Amino acid sequence: MALRALPSGKTLARFYQQQIRGLQTFTLPDLAYDYGALEPAISGEIMQLHHQKHHQTYITNYNKALEQLHDAIAKGDASAVVKLQSAIKFNGGGSIFGFYIYLYPITLSPCNASIFAGHVNHSIFWKNLAPPREGGGEPPHGSLGWAIDQHFGSMEKLIAKMNAEGAAVQGSGWVWLAVDKELKRLVVETTANQDPLVTKGASLVPLVGIDVWEHAYYLQYKNVRPDYLKNIWKVINWKFASEVYAKECP
Ligand SMILES: [Fe+2]
Repeated sequence: MALRALPSGKTLARFYQQQIRGLQTFTLPDLAYDYGALEPAISGEIMQLHHQKHHQTYITNYNKALEQLHDAIAKGDASAVVKLQSAIKFNGGGSIFGFYIYLYPITLSPCNASIFAGHVNHSIFWKNLAPPREGGGEPPHGSLGWAIDQHFGSMEKLIAKMNAEGAAVQGSGWVWLAVDKELKRLVVETTANQDPLVTKGASLVPLVGIDVWEHAYYLQYKNVRPDYLKNIWKVINWKFASEVYAKECP
């Protein structure tokens, strides 16, 4: 395999300018339900803090880092560009962003989901939840329910698998039910910190993502993550997951 010449500073600056041109700042999305509507599974206090403080902080830091990145690129400050990538990765989840893209040329657009993942992870999470009076916790019927039975044996076995894998995540992270849209099969994956699901496979589409950071449960469940995982299924929005699955596997 031929070796690539290292990029010059000007080439790199031009590359980054092209790559970030389409990036945008974000604002906190509204929830479709009240903070207290998921009780007793998840307390209103947790939901409010999680949404207004934690999610907002990711967005604020991401927007700030993006602005600083624009400035650093305009000034040709390569070391600042490299440093800012870690802030973008953590707050936005952009683990693919950076020299990787240069060395393995791909357009940015297919990676948008990964670059924005800290924000996107939480945006998906809010949609994955629904108050019980609005169908939260009602298991899926139709094609997703059938696929779960086929791949995992039963809904109970899927829940047991996700609870076990979610409880085993060291430190902070996520446990996902996803569909591999190319292989047309369901998978359970975990990701660390705010890494996006796409880091586990470019064709994976999240159906249900469960946040297992302590900030998602500690105020109510203290350090007993398995209890949080056991109860969150009472407010999982399977209607949303079914719609995504039907779109990806018509
Ligand atoms: Fe979170």
